[in-house]
Amino acid sequence: YPAHRIRNFAIIAHIDHGKSTLSDRLLELTNTIQRHKPGDNNQVLDKLKVERERGITVKAQTVSMFYKHDGEEYLLNLIDTPGHVDFSWEVARSLGACEGALLLVDASQGVQAQSISVFHAAKDKKLKIIPVLNKIDLPAAEPERIATQIQAMFDLDPNDILNVSAKTGLGVRDVLHAIIDRVPPPNAGTNHDAPLKMLLFDSLYDRYRGVISLVSIKDGELRKGDKIASCHSRKKYEVMDLGIMHPEEVPTACLRPGQVGWIGACAATKKSGKETLIGDTFHRVGQPVEPLPGFQLAKPMVYAGVYPVDSNDFPKLEESIKRLTLTDRSVSVQRESSTALGQGCRLGFLGTLHMDVFRQRLEDEYDASVIITAPTVPYKLVYHDRTEFVSNPTDFPDINDPRVRLNEVQEPMVTASIIVPSDYLGEMMELCTSHRAQDIDYRYLDSEYQSSRIMLTCRLPLGEIMTDFFDKLKSRSSGFASFDYEDAGYQKSDLVKMTFLLNGRQVDALAFIVHRSAAENIGREWALKLRKVIPRQQFEVPIQAVVGKKVIARETISAVRKDVTAGMYGGHHERKMKKLAEQKEGKKRLKRIGSVDVPQEAFFEILSSN
Ligand code: GTP
Repeated sequence: YPAHRIRNFAIIAHIDHGKSTLSDRLLELTNTIQRHKPGDNNQVLDKLKVERERGITVKAQTVSMFYKHDGEEYLLNLIDTPGHVDFSWEVARSLGACEGALLLVDASQGVQAQSISVFHAAKDKKLKIIPVLNKIDLPAAEPERIATQIQAMFDLDPNDILNVSAKTGLGVRDVLHAIIDRVPPPNAGTNHDAPLKMLLFDSLYDRYRGVISLVSIKDGELRKGDKIASCHSRKKYEVMDLGIMHPEEVPTACLRPGQVGWIGACAATKKSGKETLIGDTFHRVGQPVEPLPGFQLAKPMVYAGVYPVDSNDFPKLEESIKRLTLTDRSVSVQRESSTALGQGCRLGFLGTLHMDVFRQRLEDEYDASVIITAPTVPYKLVYHDRTEFVSNPTDFPDINDPRVRLNEVQEPMVTASIIVPSDYLGEMMELCTSHRAQDIDYRYLDSEYQSSRIMLTCRLPLGEIMTDFFDKLKSRSSGFASFDYEDAGYQKSDLVKMTFLLNGRQVDALAFIVHRSAAENIGREWALKLRKVIPRQQFEVPIQAVVGKKVIARETISAVRKDVTAGMYGGHHERKMKKLAEQKEGKKRLKRIGSVDVPQEAFFEILSSN
């Protein structure tokens, strides 16, 4: 395909605005997949089980379609992008392979928080943006009102807006024509002899075939057997196989400038997935090129420890983690151990949804439950002579100890935006304030209509939105609020480390970094949780929440005496011994913390209830 008959585009949208449904319709219209009954949710692009269960796209997928228009056949490459804040970095990367984007907005819900962030991501990449209003079949759809919103928010011409129903297929053909007519062809070299320049924008891991990389050819041609090298790592590879996604991998003889496709099992990348870096530029060995801009390593913003429920299963767990990180390179992995939980791994994620998704994938892959410790963000410790980042509460120093010589502690901040009907403004302000928000501000999105929506912006500590912020936001706005955030650097904060003592001994798996003002409440809450899950012992067990040297909350587990031999009278010596041996065996699974026996399951319960 010559470049002028190629279009590379993405569909960008807020969650649930219908991206996957529209993708399916486009694939059907181009006969890439078989046509289904209207309303049948096929969702070819959402491949992972976790995606199907949660109805969200996690991993970007790419597919090529062929479509005849005005007597010419076009190659349309749809580059799927994830629809959640945690993956904004993946969104930006996938957009690097496109010249245009369909900005899909639900005609009943209007512009939402992620509509804005994905719009800006596409605009930054200078993509041609085609606004599409979806779900116009819904009785609650208000296409005129939302069109005004789109015009005001994005400065787009309302005449350019397409009205569609991805569900019924209405207007979808016009979308295909708009892609051909409005999205510019890849301006990448028409010169096939130019030195190869190729962007690696994603990778998939297939259990049988190893790592498959998705690439976008900017210049030159790529063929089987070509020797290529990375601009960043300088490592060399041989292209064993290549082709396009249609919708699965279909081999082709070569990939030409402007094309998007897959390359497989390059000699040096087999299994060692970490080696190929997403966002990297590749060139032909011996013909170096200028790397494409925007290369950036994934930056984990949420860390948590992951442990097997049965500590003997660690090797199996580690193997499963390794396998999963082949498909998801944005997860960072380090071994760690804890007296309470045994051997485990400390993983870094892009955000909490990313963490939940990974946990679910891990449980599927590893086929058992895992314990995930409370998530933390990376804190910045500014000493008089150096700066350090700490993401594990265990490594957090006692800031009251003068020998530590810590000047200040800083925490990561985000700029948050919340879009919500104006009736909920008060609730939302309260929620943000209770999470230490600063610089709260708001504006009306469509002032000429009654019951308008507002966009509230503020600065929030990232640590504050790690756990239940999103759930609260949804419940306090009756599900109407949408939320997005972006990195806003680090800021000085009064943070302290809180630990828990069980019968006087510290439980290392339970340490938190909290704001001083919230320490007492959190201490009380967790002491109570612990009291509920730790079984009563043969003696009284104090549970204490401690900050520095000070106990800020306390609970007591009262004693119980459980005599397994009760009810057995003399002469049953053998049975008695057997019972005692059984009890001993049962205790092997328990952890001794300050002479208190805590079943691993108790940690599982307390940490997973979080
Ligand atoms: P993420 O992958 O999470 O970003 O969601 P998505 O944008 O891919 O949304 P998806 O296609 O999964 O659609 C979300 C819901 O809206 C599904 O229940 C669809 O059936 C429904 N939906 C999508 N398009 C339409 C439409 O045109 N009309 C109606 N009535 N429902 C639609």
